Amino acid sequence: MERIVEPIQLSEDDNSELSLRPQKIKEYIGQEKVKERLDIFIKAAKKRNESLDHVLLYGPPGLGKTTLANIIAKEMSGDLKITSGPAIERAGDLAAILTTLKDYDVLFIDEIHRLNRTVEEILYPAMEDYALDIVIGKGAAAKSIRLDLPKFTLIGATTRVGMLTSPLRDRFGVLCAMEYYNETELKEIIIRSAAVFGCKITEEGALEIATRSRGTPRIANRLLKRVRDYSEVKSNNVISVKEAKAALELLEVDSQGFDKVDNKILEAIIDNFNGGPVGIETLSYFIGEELGTIEDVYEPYLLQQGFVVRTPRGRVATDKAYKHLGRVNNSKHKECNSEQKSFFNS
Ligand SMILES: Nc1ncnc2c1ncn2[C@@H]1O[C@H](COP(=O)(O)OP(=O)(O)OP(=O)(O)O)[C@@H](O)[C@H]1O
Ligand SMILES: [Mg+2]
Repeated sequence: MERIVEPIQLSEDDNSELSLRPQKIKEYIGQEKVKERLDIFIKAAKKRNESLDHVLLYGPPGLGKTTLANIIAKEMSGDLKITSGPAIERAGDLAAILTTLKDYDVLFIDEIHRLNRTVEEILYPAMEDYALDIVIGKGAAAKSIRLDLPKFTLIGATTRVGMLTSPLRDRFGVLCAMEYYNETELKEIIIRSAAVFGCKITEEGALEIATRSRGTPRIANRLLKRVRDYSEVKSNNVISVKEAKAALELLEVDSQGFDKVDNKILEAIIDNFNGGPVGIETLSYFIGEELGTIEDVYEPYLLQQGFVVRTPRGRVATDKAYKHLGRVNNSKHKECNSEQKSFFNS
């Protein structure tokens, strides 16, 4: 079964994401630092009648990278072409895309860390000199010719900036780190989406969904849709705190946006391993989830929010985790936990 608090796009998001996607920069809520940087670079480029420098957007899934690429293309009055790292298999595929571009167009390459090497090498002169080097003929008769490309903007998006090669990373002039959204921003996003759906929601109702959305607009919108379904049946399509709470309880998304497995992990560390440290293999065996799934799917958010910390001897639950489960922290790690807590709160 698909996990409702999954940050990666699920099939159920397909239709709604298009209609919910903000079209203008002022409808794009949050990411103030990123917006400010982009605003300056866009204005400067326009003033000089140049294309915008290449932009790299990086950060966790569902925070609005694709949405932002759409908005940038509109701002630059160019067309947007969308592709992705794994979709471009051969150098010729990329060359074909590049030659269809016009000045000021934006080429968006999602998951750019997954481009293969030969394709990536085509991209270097394209980004640096707006040039395409192609080899004609074979063997001794082969010769390389250089074609001029239009002044386009490449927007690369990645959830794993560390996997980018440095020659590629260095060719981006604007680097933007996408951050998790705070509750107020998510609340605004939810209110805006509810208006698009044509359903009524109170501020408090929106905030209730926001606090459970794990800092991620995609999750916020997905939860809103489910709460809306519930309210359509139960309360004539009005979402107040009561409907939001009841629906999310039914969906087993708790006050922190944790699902059953998240809580199972915390419970296991605290109740069965005295707060840790416990090795990830032991933990995975104990709760019956695959090790890779724990590491890739569940753990990142627990770590990022400071409910769990990694130590050389294994995972340790923090005071925050004890509090969340309503347990008292009597473990011998209490001291180190409160230190960690103050670290995470600072
Ligand atoms: N700043 C924002 N304001 C309003 N809505 C947003 C914002 N950011 C994202 N969204 C909503 O969240 C959904 C997911 O955003 P988007 O597809 O742009 O994320 P992404 O970062 O490209 O994700 P992925 O890493 O999976 O490609 C969009 O449909 C959009 O409705
Ligand atoms: Mg995307």
